[in-house]
Amino acid sequence: MSFLLDAEITKQERIVPGHFRLSLSSPDIVTAARPGQFLQVRCGSTLDPFLRRPISIHAVDRKKGEVVLFYRVAGRGTSLLAEKRQGNSVSLLGPLGRGFSLPEGKARVAVVSGGIGIAPIYFLLVELAMYGVSADVFLGAATAEQLFFFKEIKGFGYRVEIATDDGSAGYHGLVTDLFAESIPLSNEYAMIYGCGPGGMLRRLAEIIRSAGAPGELSLEERMGCGVGACLSCVCKTSGEGKVQYQRVCTEGPVFPANEVVWT
Ligand SMILES: Cc1cc2nc3c(=O)[nH]c(=O)nc-3n(C[C@H](O)[C@H](O)[C@H](O)COP(=O)(O)OP(=O)(O)OC[C@H]3O[C@@H](n4cnc5c(N)ncnc54)[C@H](O)[C@@H]3O)c2cc1C
Ligand code: FES
Repeated sequence: MSFLLDAEITKQERIVPGHFRLSLSSPDIVTAARPGQFLQVRCGSTLDPFLRRPISIHAVDRKKGEVVLFYRVAGRGTSLLAEKRQGNSVSLLGPLGRGFSLPEGKARVAVVSGGIGIAPIYFLLVELAMYGVSADVFLGAATAEQLFFFKEIKGFGYRVEIATDDGSAGYHGLVTDLFAESIPLSNEYAMIYGCGPGGMLRRLAEIIRSAGAPGELSLEERMGCGVGACLSCVCKTSGEGKVQYQRVCTEGPVFPANEVVWT
């Protein structure tokens, strides 16, 4: 079930320059939210920009009834959002889309995140920990400064490996290369989850295919409506042998890794 409502900001925290964690009071959204789903956020206080911006649900605080977003300032909409302060209200539509599926029982999974992809992955990791699922977590970022929430995630009890493009922390190189090097040792994952830039997901899909493991990837496309009406967000998939276009906002954003057709 989705809601259209005004939510009050309880906290706007700058994590590093250009990256913010925003907490909003919204008990209805908290109850309905699942990892991998997103909200359509009205970033300004007027109708400019007209379109809402899709932002993943990063965490929920069930006790306080707060939904948390983690976002990078990319352009006009997110800049306006960053100007908002505690006590301001923000119009939210959601939760929207199909999120990650959680494995049955106390399985072992792998989770691969690149850059701002950590936003929805964090919520997934919190839920997996709650259900007693063990995870090998691979976090990639451009620099050490952008390896977000490393200590918190380590605190969930997971094995966490890190990679940076510039070598300022952990493995020097792409997180997918780090993951590819580690997978032959433990390729019995019940699921391999991924979220990050398109190039990273494409490479991850290849690794998942050669490992023969099931995988789920969270895709990002530019969105208009966010609710399946405008078709601006379609991606190519192949299910049951036939190639088709699916809407990232409604059939996704999370898709089975073996169904995404990379163009
Ligand atoms: C399902 C989904 C979940 C998302 N979750 C998050 C999140 O949790 N945190 C976060 O920081 N961002 C997230 N994004 C990306 C976020 O929606 C865009 O950064 C935002 O819409 C940019 O709006 P803007 O007005 O600030 O920038 P614009 O002025 O609209 O664009 C600035 C730049 O960002 C690029 N851009 C805009 N939208 C997208 C997009 N959807 N994908 C890739 N590039 C884009 C544009 O091409 C342009 O180069 C998500 C996107 C989707 C589709
Ligand atoms: S954003 Fe309109 S159909 Fe997906």
